[in-house]
Amino acid sequence: MATSCVWLISFFSLLVGHGVLQLEASHILNTNLESLQPPSPNQTYRTSYHFQPPKNWMNDPNGPMIYKGLYHFFYQYNPFGAAWGNIVWAHSTSEDLVNWIPHDPAIYPSHQADINGCWSGSATILPGEKPVFLYTGVDPKSQQVQNIAVPKNMSDPFLVEWEKSPKNPLMEPTSMNKINASSFRDPTTAWLGPDGRWRVIIGSKRDRRGLAILYRSKDFINWVKAKHPLHSAKGTGMWECPDFFPVSTSNQSGLDTSMVGLGIKHVLKLSLDDTKHDYYTIGTYNLAMDRYIPDSGSVDGDSGLRYDYGKFYASKTFYDNAKNRRVLWGWINESLSEADYVKQGWAGVQAIPRSVWLSKSGKQLVQWPIVEIEKLRTNRVDSPSTDLKGGSVHEISGVTAAQADVEISFRVSEFNKADVMDPSWTNPQLLCSQKGASVKGGLGPFGLLVLASNHLQEYTAVFFRIFKGQNKYVVLMCSDQSRSSLNKNPDKTTYGTFVDVDPIKEKLSLRSLIDHSIVESFGGDGKVCISSRVYPTLAIEGGAHLYAFNNGTQGVTISKLSAWSMKKAQIS
Ligand code: FRU
Repeated sequence: MATSCVWLISFFSLLVGHGVLQLEASHILNTNLESLQPPSPNQTYRTSYHFQPPKNWMNDPNGPMIYKGLYHFFYQYNPFGAAWGNIVWAHSTSEDLVNWIPHDPAIYPSHQADINGCWSGSATILPGEKPVFLYTGVDPKSQQVQNIAVPKNMSDPFLVEWEKSPKNPLMEPTSMNKINASSFRDPTTAWLGPDGRWRVIIGSKRDRRGLAILYRSKDFINWVKAKHPLHSAKGTGMWECPDFFPVSTSNQSGLDTSMVGLGIKHVLKLSLDDTKHDYYTIGTYNLAMDRYIPDSGSVDGDSGLRYDYGKFYASKTFYDNAKNRRVLWGWINESLSEADYVKQGWAGVQAIPRSVWLSKSGKQLVQWPIVEIEKLRTNRVDSPSTDLKGGSVHEISGVTAAQADVEISFRVSEFNKADVMDPSWTNPQLLCSQKGASVKGGLGPFGLLVLASNHLQEYTAVFFRIFKGQNKYVVLMCSDQSRSSLNKNPDKTTYGTFVDVDPIKEKLSLRSLIDHSIVESFGGDGKVCISSRVYPTLAIEGGAHLYAFNNGTQGVTISKLSAWSMKKAQIS
């Protein structure tokens, strides 16, 4: 680790505003853009070890599963352009969730029940190792309906061809069931109850009330809508891409989706169409009533717990029976305008798959990049315990900073200088944008400057601040993109969250996966995650640098620092 204690004045003297653009997938077909192909896709911001197709638009992960030891990944994809539209299920397979083989689209519009689009859905492995998909089709009347597809040839390990049932649609809005035909989508993996009936939930809304509509079936073909939803919450708007799964209260192992009983809690994740945030609650699945009840303190809506406090949406888990874990996939959208990503020729990246389990407190989930990603690590750089004085920057050299994995831990031994927490500071994202990396504090900001140019004209700062709360210290983690690019166009919203760690007893750990235009950060050993899309103009390839920094008054100690260059994965 090369050390430079020269504080670059330009770094903290410039305050940049945060243009907030709304740049999410829309369901309105843009006929001008959806099939426009740029002459040659712009490669500058393509990633090297995150999943993405060679070109065009990608959104939600669909039907992830493991079948006969091979991982399958499907995703919402536009084969004709880099804007949302013409949606099919594209397909890739992998032996390790890191390197992928692409196949032809598995599901594409071909029948009445999906002629206007094959939207999101999930895989269920039926007894006898038989995979099936439930997915949303958009019919000729533009109604959202639920369909089934099964592999054409079960002896093909790649399962490249899928067959739709002549009985499709299996679930549809009618005047009797009062389902909102334009808000009825994204079936979950189904689970089998002790009564021998399958259950599935589908995202919906009634007025502003988010609904997880429940259906039951004995044969997976004939589905009957239950009288009550599995869960609903007022004021949350449309629930997209629900995910419902059990977690163990005693260890980190994953559980099959149908598991219930002692030592098991349940997680319900919803994707909020209004804010494009994935939130989850932890609670109890009451089998007798077929209802899910969040624990007290586990709240519905945008103020609830999130998998990721940055860009991460429409996520979905699956149970990996080969490694006995639950794996989470999530879509990371662009932070560019539609015109800019159409020009770029591609849009959308998948986050590195994460293992998820219940924390020891039982109050939240913990996430960690799947262990297989570590085989891409090379050129390890370690640093001995180092003091990071207030107002200092240390370069971490020896790794390819545009394509790296870095783990750093901080120890704090002196708390006198911690700023006092104002009880009105309840919105961590707002706090992070008001107190970005350039705002000097007592204890913090300290953390990493990633995708940084050598004179720090550009950088993304991922850092902690510690405040003195009423009866404990409060830890804030931020990802500040305000200086990430000299290009003014991308959305540079600063993200943030509080982290449930006690800095007196525990070290503060941070891991960032850096991949050209992605910074995926895990704080507090995976208690919180923040994913950012950034588009540097100087900090690209060899122009990218990595630093540890402390812009607080109080010094802190780097108790552990390891960084690796990351090899390229074989994806497309
Ligand atoms: C979420 C979503 C889903 C829908 C799909 C369409 O991003 O809007 O609700 O099924 O994308 O591509």
